[in-house]
Amino acid sequence: MLGQDAAERLRRGGHSVVETDRDTLDITDPVAVGSALAGVDVVLNCAAYTAVDDAEAHEDLATLINATGPAVLAAATADAGVRLVHISTDYVFDGSADAPYPEDAPLAPSSAYGRSKAAGERAVGEAGGDHLIVRTAWLYGAHGPCFPKTIARLAKERDLLTVVDDQIGQPTWTVDVADLVIRLVEAAAPAGTYHATSTGAVSWHGFAQAIVAALGKDPAMVGPTTSEAFVRPAPRPAYSVLGHAALDTIGIAPIGAWSERWSLAASTVLAEFLA
Ligand SMILES: NC(=O)c1ccc[n+]([C@@H]2O[C@H](COP(=O)([O-])OP(=O)(O)OC[C@H]3O[C@@H](n4cnc5c(N)ncnc54)[C@H](OP(=O)(O)O)[C@@H]3O)[C@@H](O)[C@H]2O)c1
Repeated sequence: MLGQDAAERLRRGGHSVVETDRDTLDITDPVAVGSALAGVDVVLNCAAYTAVDDAEAHEDLATLINATGPAVLAAATADAGVRLVHISTDYVFDGSADAPYPEDAPLAPSSAYGRSKAAGERAVGEAGGDHLIVRTAWLYGAHGPCFPKTIARLAKERDLLTVVDDQIGQPTWTVDVADLVIRLVEAAAPAGTYHATSTGAVSWHGFAQAIVAALGKDPAMVGPTTSEAFVRPAPRPAYSVLGHAALDTIGIAPIGAWSERWSLAASTVLAEFLA
């Protein structure tokens, strides 16, 4: 979902892009990764095991893709003197905070997926190469399954929906993450960790109401429920709000307010439902 928008935005910005997928480059294969780096200035790693609930039963596989893969990429890019931009997640935190997480908050994942992504961040840091870790959260985009598409499908099938209102976060458009990554790379941002999330915060319930409104339906068709009533295999962070101080420090504007970005993104992301 993120990789395709990133490639498209990079091309639009005049950059030359080599796109890979699992079939053309397995990021856990050191030989393949090493030979893929010839002529490359920057590697953007959007590959991941992203099935958060499935990861609870398949932590080894999640760890292979989310920790070993980044370790392989970090070692190879360090050797080749290539900058690595590695995408990470709010799930490296447990969501028990009540103020936005700073970039240097201690990692405290509470799910298998979160542990695997935290291990990936550590591996990238420990390889000693030039890297940016870019954490995002609550991603939606045109090129993959995502929360807005799920809500849109359900809103076409049902008259009433219930969505949890006790998990707070920052819905973030893949196009905005791609643009922020490009701005960071073009500005030769200092190595370190940055947060690529929209500003503001909303519950899944509030976001679902905004999604339904974008479909021309009454937001009141979405009622609130609780995480306790909607249990899933992996625990979800209750408070997934990331701060943007590191961007402020280097003079790079964070992504805008989630509601404004959603207004702009909705027609593209929900195109198949609006046709
Ligand atoms: N989606 C979210 O809400 C969210 C939130 C926060 C952070 N993130 C992070 O953002 C990044 C992008 O997420 P996304 O939602 O765009 O992910 P996605 O749509 O699930 O794409 C991940 C891609 O990685 C590929 N992949 C898996 N194992 C691989 C391997 N060994 N070698 C090469 N490619 C491999 C997958 O291929 P297959 O399809 O063949 O498996 C898939 O195409 C990830 O780092 C994710 O952790 C996502």
